[in-house]
Amino acid sequence: MFGLFKKNKTHPDLSFIGVDMHSHLLPGLDDGLKTIEDTIAFVQELNTLGYEKLICTPHILSAVHPNTPQTILPKLEEVQKAVKEKNIKIQIEAAAEYMVDHEFEQLIKSGNKLLTFGTNFILIEMSYLAPSPNLGQVIFDLRLAGLQPILAHPERYNYYHHQFHEFKKIKDTGCWFQVNMLSLAGYYGKHIKKTAEKLIAEGMIDLIGTDMHHQNHLHATKQLALSNYFYKILKDVPLKNRMFLD
Ligand SMILES: [Fe+2]
Repeated sequence: MFGLFKKNKTHPDLSFIGVDMHSHLLPGLDDGLKTIEDTIAFVQELNTLGYEKLICTPHILSAVHPNTPQTILPKLEEVQKAVKEKNIKIQIEAAAEYMVDHEFEQLIKSGNKLLTFGTNFILIEMSYLAPSPNLGQVIFDLRLAGLQPILAHPERYNYYHHQFHEFKKIKDTGCWFQVNMLSLAGYYGKHIKKTAEKLIAEGMIDLIGTDMHHQNHLHATKQLALSNYFYKILKDVPLKNRMFLD
């Protein structure tokens, strides 16, 4: 899966993205990184690639990853402190990646504060097996609450690959789309890559994220950042990532 592209660049530069708003870098909270040492190493690597801010988004998925602000925010502080001690010039923030399920619907109804980033942005995802039955209502409710929902990696929802109109329907409800960098690397397979390219070609992508979980992701991200293909495909895409810089 690596080495798909001709690598001409010797100095990868992702500063045109600047802000990563989807990652699992906070240690020990989900299926992402496990130790603070790994977190610091990954932060350093991403900084070297040109990122100025990393917004970490641990999964919140009821029984599997039952995170809350109480589990996430102390980890954020721990990482911020370590990054400062290592003198890495990068901002670290945290929000979450909310699975759109019954528990999330209840959480919205509860009126409890949700983990957002920027002025009012919230990252949501669906299962890879089946669409969330109430996605439309959830998007409506979030927007009613003054939040801007962003659907993580739409290209990875295989059940829509032959129903492209479903993507259009979701976009028309006012949801933003975030494509995964590694989808463009072909990391998740050729159909996902093709769908990512189509979403880009149709002007439906607002943001790009690493969705970084582990070493293989970092390696593949660095490989992609060396390919001319990556810069070429995003050349005319008005990515909004840098709007999250202070
Ligand atoms: Fe994710």
